[in-house]
Amino acid sequence: MSATVRALLLERDDDGPVRAGVTELAPATLPGGDAPADGEVEVAVARSSLNYKDALIVTGAGGPLVRDFPHVPGIDLAGTVTAVGAGVDPSVAAVGDEVLVTGCWLGERRWGGMATTARVPASWLVRRPADLDAARAMALGTAGFTAQLCCDALAHGGVAPGSGTVLVTGATGGVGSLAVHLLARSGHTVAAATGDPDAAGRLHDLGAAEVLPRAELEELAARPLASARWAGVVDVAGGAVLAGALVSTAPRGVVAACGIAGGRRLDVDLAPFFARGVVLAGVDSVLHPMADRPGVWARLATGVEADVLDRLTTTVDLAGVPAAAHDLLARGGRGRTVVTVA
Ligand SMILES: NC(=O)c1ccc[n+]([C@@H]2O[C@H](COP(=O)([O-])OP(=O)(O)OC[C@H]3O[C@@H](n4cnc5c(N)ncnc54)[C@H](OP(=O)(O)O)[C@@H]3O)[C@@H](O)[C@H]2O)c1
Repeated sequence: MSATVRALLLERDDDGPVRAGVTELAPATLPGGDAPADGEVEVAVARSSLNYKDALIVTGAGGPLVRDFPHVPGIDLAGTVTAVGAGVDPSVAAVGDEVLVTGCWLGERRWGGMATTARVPASWLVRRPADLDAARAMALGTAGFTAQLCCDALAHGGVAPGSGTVLVTGATGGVGSLAVHLLARSGHTVAAATGDPDAAGRLHDLGAAEVLPRAELEELAARPLASARWAGVVDVAGGAVLAGALVSTAPRGVVAACGIAGGRRLDVDLAPFFARGVVLAGVDSVLHPMADRPGVWARLATGVEADVLDRLTTTVDLAGVPAAAHDLLARGGRGRTVVTVA
């Protein structure tokens, strides 16, 4: 490990604004002090990424997501194991392993991926798939992992290619873009709902067969039922968009709900459930079982075309994160943002 750790550090006095700046930290300030604690590892971080939740944390708009300051953000990371604490099974982690971490409260309750060194429990590690370098792993990142979990939820509920059109909301954002592409590439007919009137070309390039304004869903939200259009739904918006999607889902359809970009309350008539048997499936990437994660990453790594991923991705360095975070919340996501850490 180098003599210091370069990190994006967030500081906050009482209820004041969050201040973000790049700084050099003494390694002993990391969790564990001078060395990784028992059961933990040290990772030389190559890349992190900027997700919606990171944007909330970095700008201070996230309320209670982070309670203790100073804090290093970054809810995901890709890097190389450089030291292993006592009691770590060598089959779980060894020096030199190429790994990634998403969720598990990284960047929320534990210092995160936006620093050249991170210390995390060995049990949080996933081996980085061999066909993904660190940059592409984080171009996928938490958003890609969540998009794959949503696709898996649809498949688990019996929504197979050919079942009918699958709707994706928030389609220009990180989770939405990758869900559109994954679903289209696996043979689904995809409708992409967006609030961006200029996004149709980009969404068709990702594989969407149809693009609709998100207002069309919001207008349906107060109805008990609307025309049955969707065999399945991946929803990142919540609120009225999710309500509109539910009332327009076909009998036995599955709605995978993972996000709150448009609202965290759901006010909807129950008719989709009792009259059409629609299934509302919640998706949580943070505490998704570790044993299942390598399989999710393997499906994700092969499900996304590398050149499509590269076109979706913008790169910033640590110093560029605060401006990118404000921009993401102000304009909505535009694909994915990778953070170059080292
Ligand atoms: N459950 C989980 O484990 C999990 C994991 C990752 C993310 N998430 C959640 O998923 C959501 C999306 O995350 P992300 O990283 O993809 O964020 P993102 O890149 O910022 O994308 C969010 C998208 O939501 C749409 N949107 C913005 N404001 C909206 C509004 N007022 N009403 C409806 N839609 C709106 C926009 O797409 P259009 O302009 O195309 O409509 C925007 O691009 C967030 O709520 C995030 O917290 C949950």
